[in-house]
Amino acid sequence: MKDMNLTLKIWRQKGANDKGKMIDYQVAGISEHMSFLEMMDVLNEQLINSGDSPVAFDHDCREGICGSCSMFINGEAHGPVKGTTTCQLHMRSFKDGDTIYIEPFRAKAFPVLKDLVVDRSSFDRIQRSGGFISVNTSGNTQDANALPIPKQDADLAMDAAACIGCGACVATCKNSSAMLFVGAKISQYALLPQGQVESKTRAQNMVAQMDAEGFGNCTNTGACEVECPKGIDLSNIARMNREFLGGSLKG
Ligand code: SF4
Ligand code: FES
Repeated sequence: MKDMNLTLKIWRQKGANDKGKMIDYQVAGISEHMSFLEMMDVLNEQLINSGDSPVAFDHDCREGICGSCSMFINGEAHGPVKGTTTCQLHMRSFKDGDTIYIEPFRAKAFPVLKDLVVDRSSFDRIQRSGGFISVNTSGNTQDANALPIPKQDADLAMDAAACIGCGACVATCKNSSAMLFVGAKISQYALLPQGQVESKTRAQNMVAQMDAEGFGNCTNTGACEVECPKGIDLSNIARMNREFLGGSLKG
C-alpha cells in the first residue's frame, strides 16, 4: 500500500480549565506499518518544527501492557480493532485520504489535564482501597505454587489479572461506570486462596471508593466488554456483586 495522507481532527485543550476544541491537521507520507502512536509522533515533530505545541498524549510501554495510552479514535476507545490498545493499533487499519477523529477518554472521574491526557488517578485510589493481599514478606514468603488451586480458578484469576487499568471501559460506558475494571481487580484475588484474608472488606471498600470518585452505575449494556482491549468479560462484574453481598453477610 502506498503511503497515506490523512486529515486528523484532534481535541486540543491547554489545561484543565480551558474549554478545548477540535483542530484540523494534515499529515503526509504515513506508512501502513506505523503504529498509531508513531503517526502521532510524526504529527508532533511537524508541529514542533513549525513552532506549534505538540499534542499531549499518554504512553509508556507501547506494547499493550501498561494501560497508559488512551485515545478515543473515530468514536471508539482505542480505535477500530477489537482487543487492541491504541499503541498496538497500526495505520494499516486506515486508508489514504481518511479523516480520523481523536479525542481523550471522557468521564467525570477522568478530568482532562491537557489535550488527550486525562487524570486516571481515581483508578489508583480504588486500587489502594482494597486491591491488594496480605502476605508474609519477612523473607519466609510461601511460594505461591505451594498452594493447590483448581485449574479453572487459576485460569479465571489470570484472565481477570489481564486488566491493564486503561479506562476504556469507563470511556465507552454511557454511564461512565468503572465496574468492569473494579470487577477484574476484585476477581483476581477473590478466586485465589491468597485473596481470602481481606475478602470481608475488599469489595465493600473498592465499591465505596468507586462511588466516591463519581463513576456511574452499570446498566448491563455490555459496551465495556466489547471495547476492553484485554477481553475482560462481564462475569467479573457479577463476581464483584457476589463478593459485595458476601462481604456484607460476613461483616
Ligand atoms: S477492564 Fe478492560 S477496558 Fe477496563 S481498565 Fe481493564 S483492561 Fe481497560
Ligand atoms: S502504551 Fe502501554 S498499553 Fe499502550
